[in-house]
Amino acid sequence: MCGIVGYIGYRKAHMVIINALKRLEYRGYDSWGVAVVQGNKLDIHKQVGAIGEIESQEFGEATLGIGHTRWATHGKPSDVNAHPHLDCNGNIAVVHNGIIENYLSLKNDLMKEGHKFVSETDTEIIAHLIEKNNGSLENAVFSAISVLKGSYAVVVISPDERKIVACRNKSPLILGVGDGEFFVASDTPAILEYTNRVVYLEDGDTVVITDSGYEIKNNGIKVERMVELVPWSLDDAEKSGYEHFMLKEIHETPRVIEETIAGHVSDTIELDVSFAAGISELVFVACGTSLHAAIVGKYIIEEMSGIPVRVEYASEFNYHTTPISRSLVVGITQSGETADTLEALRKAKGNGARILAITNVLGSSVTRVADYVIYTRAGPEIGVAATKTFIAQLVALCLVALKLSMLPRSELERFILEMRLLPEKIRKILDEKEKIKEISEILAEFDNMMYIGRGIAFPVALEGALKMKEISYIHAEGYPAGELKHGPFALLGEKTPVIVCIIRDETYDITLSNIKEVKARDSPVFAFSDEKDREIDKYVDYAVKTPEVDRIFAPIVLSVALQLLAYYTARVKGCEIDKPRHLAKSVTVE
Ligand code: G6P
Repeated sequence: MCGIVGYIGYRKAHMVIINALKRLEYRGYDSWGVAVVQGNKLDIHKQVGAIGEIESQEFGEATLGIGHTRWATHGKPSDVNAHPHLDCNGNIAVVHNGIIENYLSLKNDLMKEGHKFVSETDTEIIAHLIEKNNGSLENAVFSAISVLKGSYAVVVISPDERKIVACRNKSPLILGVGDGEFFVASDTPAILEYTNRVVYLEDGDTVVITDSGYEIKNNGIKVERMVELVPWSLDDAEKSGYEHFMLKEIHETPRVIEETIAGHVSDTIELDVSFAAGISELVFVACGTSLHAAIVGKYIIEEMSGIPVRVEYASEFNYHTTPISRSLVVGITQSGETADTLEALRKAKGNGARILAITNVLGSSVTRVADYVIYTRAGPEIGVAATKTFIAQLVALCLVALKLSMLPRSELERFILEMRLLPEKIRKILDEKEKIKEISEILAEFDNMMYIGRGIAFPVALEGALKMKEISYIHAEGYPAGELKHGPFALLGEKTPVIVCIIRDETYDITLSNIKEVKARDSPVFAFSDEKDREIDKYVDYAVKTPEVDRIFAPIVLSVALQLLAYYTARVKGCEIDKPRHLAKSVTVE
């Protein structure tokens, strides 16, 4: 959802910025731009499309600059709408992530005062507001942002003063601290090549950075913020020989499971679940893939602990009034920055609920809103389609369910043992992916498909369909297997394959009946089941078998197989797998 970056130091600024932007491209990739201070003027390069190169002679030796990669909100992708945006004199350059809600009225006022605008963006008004204010760059920026309503991370430079001024309100922004150089960026992978020492800026912070240091003020008052070490390495943010980040990240799943378990389990599960004391229910709020993890969590937690669990779309949560003062509201968000999830949690907190966050990113916004945090340990995920982070969420939710359960110690130990075997079983799926590749060649020919599952396999179907549609652009719907006959049957036939996620539990026989109903309507059926399931071959056209696991872990193994299916189908179709059209990994606007 737009990536922004700023650099001041001794290196060629445009090279640092382009490097950093390439690592932020997952946040938006419809257009990009760079501005550097060259002597007493600004040099700008902006263009539509994926981030390319800039000829060195264009930007020469400049060592101060800013950059932006865009995910359009106000105004379509175009060279003119690309950031940075400038004031009338071309003396102030601004990059912005977020949405300025009151930009139209501010723009009208500025136009009446004679300011001329060239773009359709909300961002451009910030440059003009800064221009209008007198005094130092810092004071002018501070006055400008004081009239803004909405969310923003803003980075500003001007040739008048050798410094960067950056501010944050409800959009992510970090400060990177190097030796004799400083960075600001939307996310840490952007700067890991240069430093792993970061300050997580907070809402209301303005940082002024010069060559010799930085000063942070919160709403005008000087504050000290801790410099923290990012536990990720540069290698985590590289493709390391894989054709796509998505494939690399799926292959990292075994390690991610090991690390997420290691973070919370020794002889027993050490997760602190004091957050659940005295609560009447759990309410999960999340978006996209994280929402599907939440639905898996509902099935497992209700079954193991007896605690009622509700799952809500974060974007709808604020539009109804179910009492939540005795609820534990759990935000699941791998990035920790999804605006809809953050808003839902803020509202819930305001209404007296206790807040737990399950996130993958240290210092992310959700960790400030939450009373309790459980970290997944997936490392940075660059591919826009969530894969390893989803699996890490499922592992964390299994741990919560087990910890909240009343199971005797011996039973718990059995589950822990089973969990520790998961990485090996996932490796087996990764090693034996030929069958999945074969099926993907068949599926790539279709325009529509259905994914179905029952019980705990239902959210697996939802997530399988989401993965397929977002990266292969094939229309795929996830449905509860029993619901298909209440409407979607009308779509079945030779041209609509059905992917069945099936688990050998109490849902098995009835799902087989559903498969028969589907076959009777001529849809080709592809089943994802476990290796001990011999029966399924009699009912379906193709069956992919995954290693046998306890049923509560079945969503984990089945999902890895379905992620591979989506990946290889998209690959057959030649899609832009890591950067699917119109999407962004971290959606920081509501
Ligand atoms: C975006 C991404 C999805 C992701 C969703 C929630 O839509 O494209 O892959 O599942 O945001 O992200 P979160 O960071 O909150 O888990």
